Amino acid sequence: MREERNNIEFLLNDELVNLKLDSDSDFSSTTTVLEWLRSNSDYLGAKEGCAEGDCGACTVVIVEEVNDKLIYKAVTSCILFLPYLHGKQLLTVEHLSKTVNGEYELHPVQEVLAKYNGSQCGYCTPGIVMSLFSFYKNQETEEDIQNSLSGNLCRCTGYESIKEAAIEIGDLNYVDEFACKEEKTIVQLKQLKKDIEAFHSDHYIQPLSLEEALRIKQEKPELLLIGGASDIALLKTKKHQDLAAILDLSNVKELKEINKHDSYWEIGAAVTMEQLRQEMTSDWPDFKKMLDVFGSQQIRNVATVGGNVGSASPIGDLLPLLMAHQAEIIIQNKHEARPESLDEFILAYRKTSLMPDELISKIIIPIDKDWIFWSEKVSKRKQLDISTLSAAFAVRLTKDKKIGAIILAYGGMAAIPVHATLAEEYLLGKEIEEAHFEKSAQLITEEFQPITDARASKEGRAILAANLLRKFYFSFDF
Ligand SMILES: Cc1cc2nc3c(=O)[nH]c(=O)nc-3n(C[C@H](O)[C@H](O)[C@H](O)COP(=O)(O)OP(=O)(O)OC[C@H]3O[C@@H](n4cnc5c(N)ncnc54)[C@H](O)[C@@H]3O)c2cc1C
Ligand code: FES
Ligand code: FES
Repeated sequence: MREERNNIEFLLNDELVNLKLDSDSDFSSTTTVLEWLRSNSDYLGAKEGCAEGDCGACTVVIVEEVNDKLIYKAVTSCILFLPYLHGKQLLTVEHLSKTVNGEYELHPVQEVLAKYNGSQCGYCTPGIVMSLFSFYKNQETEEDIQNSLSGNLCRCTGYESIKEAAIEIGDLNYVDEFACKEEKTIVQLKQLKKDIEAFHSDHYIQPLSLEEALRIKQEKPELLLIGGASDIALLKTKKHQDLAAILDLSNVKELKEINKHDSYWEIGAAVTMEQLRQEMTSDWPDFKKMLDVFGSQQIRNVATVGGNVGSASPIGDLLPLLMAHQAEIIIQNKHEARPESLDEFILAYRKTSLMPDELISKIIIPIDKDWIFWSEKVSKRKQLDISTLSAAFAVRLTKDKKIGAIILAYGGMAAIPVHATLAEEYLLGKEIEEAHFEKSAQLITEEFQPITDARASKEGRAILAANLLRKFYFSFDF
């Protein structure tokens, strides 16, 4: 086993940083990357707008080495704890431009943004530049522009000029400095990954293997689990709470893998939403539809599958999907693993069956081509908004085109994600006919007593839920 230590190591642009994070240090393990950057007058480019991942002014890019390739990820530094950087490279806006023979030279991404007048007051601009830089490095196409910029607000320029700049950036045929030194960076990051040990401070432990994580949870069951901390960090940045000591699973190798087998997908709990969106959604359009509008790219780049399930939120977007796909949540302690359905796992409002010495290690999603899947998220804003309501449906037909099995799962209709049981029972064994779906849509309005909140009234939610079932019926040529 590697030795544990209370410092993290990462590259800040090209410079190796070794940072001690303990009670007697200037920075703690729950100092955010933005707080740390802005404590240094050389790194004031990243701005604080909202401190909750919603505006993108603080966007920076994290670079990871995976299978000899560099992966560039835009993230919101305001809700990222410093240990997340352990073994990675942090790129800030200051590093994009350079001075050549005493002349200041912008990165092509910056040049194009300026050319299209994509900046006025400039407060949001460093964040937009970093999102566009990630877009450029990932060689994304025009279709990806909205995805890449969905996490960045700009209140004065107007998005048209930024979009025009993005279109030109997508067409850039330019080998930048980062590409020229890619091989060197790969070597540096590989060396760093080889050298790093599990980070272990007074209030924060970041193991590197599942075995270590399970052992630590057994010894210290009081530790608060985190994946990407996109929920938990807000307790600090917005609610100003002192967090309990943390067990961070984001660097546990085994939990970051997606494996496709003949009859099921196996998804590690520390897999990010963006990884899931990239690797799995070609098989499952219903997942793609939901994940395309999950937070923003910056959020999806850190938010994990285990965190979405572990939060047990009534409006967690993955949860109805996992119900519709009859997924198994694999819960593990040091000695054993047990599978549970999502219905068994979530007991009440944000309450789960997880015992103190346990963690979610993976999710198993069966592959059964006989099922038809469908999903929809309803929110006030299309991008970067939490659900007012979400639905994930699955139906299996018999040979004579009757409903052999059906799952109608909803988020946002109760304190936990739920089945529309009355409608499910009613439709079972019926022919695919509009009248039957109409009757079951009415049953949905009778079954639930949703709440009224800022997003919708209880009556509005009931109507929406029924209409989603009607939409499902009309979406398919069954
Ligand atoms: C700006 C913004 C936009 C968002 N948009 C959406 C959205 O569109 N849809 C949506 O559903 N959510 C959204 N969220 C909420 C959040 O991003 C998701 O719930 C995300 O999946 C949480 O993952 P995480 O790894 O960051 O969780 P964390 O914050 O790390 O953890 C969340 C909870 O899960 C527990 N947990 C974490 N990992 C495990 C594990 N392996 N085993 C057991 N328990 C675990 C933690 O203890 C904690 O209780 C948004 C958040 C922000 C800040
Ligand atoms: S400050 Fe708004 S997303 Fe970070
Ligand atoms: S340029 Fe002013 S907010 Fe974006």
